[in-house]
Amino acid sequence: MTDGVELTNPERRMRRSMLVAPSEVHTRDRIMDACDWNDQAVAVGAGQGLCDKGVVEIQETVRRTIHPGQEGHNAIANGLLEARLWSWISSQDEPTMAKLQAKFERHEAGPGVGLLKKLGVQRDSGSFVCDDPSMLKSELQARNMFLASLPADEEDLSERLLSHFKGRKELIEVVEHRSRTWKLTEAGKAMSSDGLDERKQISEITPELLQSGDWKDAEFRSFDVTLESATPRTGRSHPMQELIERIRRIFLEMGFSELVDDYVQTAGWNMDALFIPQDHPAREMQDTFYLDSPASIELDPELVQKWKDIHEHGGETGSRGWSGSFSEDVSKRGLLRTHTTVNTIQHLANNPNEPCRVFSVDRVFRKEAIDSTHLPEFHQIEGIIMEPGANLQMLVTTLKTFYAKMGYPEVRVRPAYFPYTEPSLEIEVKWKGKWLELGGAGIFRPEVTEPLGISSPVCAWGMGLERLAMLVLGLDDIRQLYISDLEWLRNQPLL
Ligand code: PHE
Repeated sequence: MTDGVELTNPERRMRRSMLVAPSEVHTRDRIMDACDWNDQAVAVGAGQGLCDKGVVEIQETVRRTIHPGQEGHNAIANGLLEARLWSWISSQDEPTMAKLQAKFERHEAGPGVGLLKKLGVQRDSGSFVCDDPSMLKSELQARNMFLASLPADEEDLSERLLSHFKGRKELIEVVEHRSRTWKLTEAGKAMSSDGLDERKQISEITPELLQSGDWKDAEFRSFDVTLESATPRTGRSHPMQELIERIRRIFLEMGFSELVDDYVQTAGWNMDALFIPQDHPAREMQDTFYLDSPASIELDPELVQKWKDIHEHGGETGSRGWSGSFSEDVSKRGLLRTHTTVNTIQHLANNPNEPCRVFSVDRVFRKEAIDSTHLPEFHQIEGIIMEPGANLQMLVTTLKTFYAKMGYPEVRVRPAYFPYTEPSLEIEVKWKGKWLELGGAGIFRPEVTEPLGISSPVCAWGMGLERLAMLVLGLDDIRQLYISDLEWLRNQPLL
């Protein structure tokens, strides 16, 4: 005890080291040195504790240093823009504006001439003249020397040049250094020096301590839980990966199995099998990435024949098909899958008689221009239920259950159209009072299931993962998910 104030061991050590020079200001380095600490957090923590107990006063000082910015480094390496322009002008017999514009980039010529103008360089009958060449020369020199002297303390630099460079883009950067110093208060000096010896303090209660009874005589370290502390930064998964894991867990616990398959597919499976007409606009180059290699992939001719029959006249299904003529070559074209339905349909084709519940969360590709709501590569949450008696109610309940487990209990469906389902629906989720469309679903049509020999009704859906991620993370720009903004990534919630 020191006059009734309980100090921690680091506080005792710090106060002891300050009492050697009781009236002086103690810097962090000095304290760390005297106390033999190498973690500055210990010094700052002890200093804060002593301040709370009235033993020391804290002073914060801010020092600013000036460093070259991005453009500043450029100028140091290649010369300042106005100096480069002037030296070119001086080297020419007839330095016209047109020649200057041919020699320098557009973003350099305009601003460079502007800078020279402020230094007394005028345009005169197509050429350039300078009012006071020696002033110009010395100013250019002063600017160069200023940059060459960086990094430097703000205080040591010419105020005039500093404000000049502060007005130019990215030439210099100001870095603030905050530092703390500590001084004993009158009360701190007057306090008795007894009890400054460090004592063994217990900071953790162990079973041994309790069993041995040693705790009875021990001194316990106190913690101030109101103090600020650094957030520990550890490695973690990307929020998209965390979201995918969470979706996986939900489908797995609902009894689904996961399907993983290739990106490279044929137009036959991606579209023909799904009764998407061969002249459908989404098949065009604008929407689909067709491949040069493999440009074409062999398909089972019997299967292609079945798709041809279905598309041209409905095959055995009673449908009239799309009429027109079906091209086998179009079927064989290689592409990057535009939806993951291409994989569920193949799973069904391979297992036409086995009831199943299958899902996938995987990447798809569409030729989209990148903007705040579109990416050419994105992910779909796909799934199917195939079993005797599978029906629309089952489909809607499954999707509602999934979104409820994700934390969105309000879900509604609206009628929609897809060439491969009947009935078809759109799924919408309520978020902040608005209905947002998240995907499509339906029951596969006979034109899809019959040629593949699928024996029971199939509920199917495909939903956007990035859309859902935007909801979960509260984003209004989809690109934020993939720009690797470390600060943003660190501050994302655990999903
Ligand atoms: N494949 C559709 C899409 O990409 C979604 C969907 C899947 C619709 C399954 C109905 C059935 O948007």
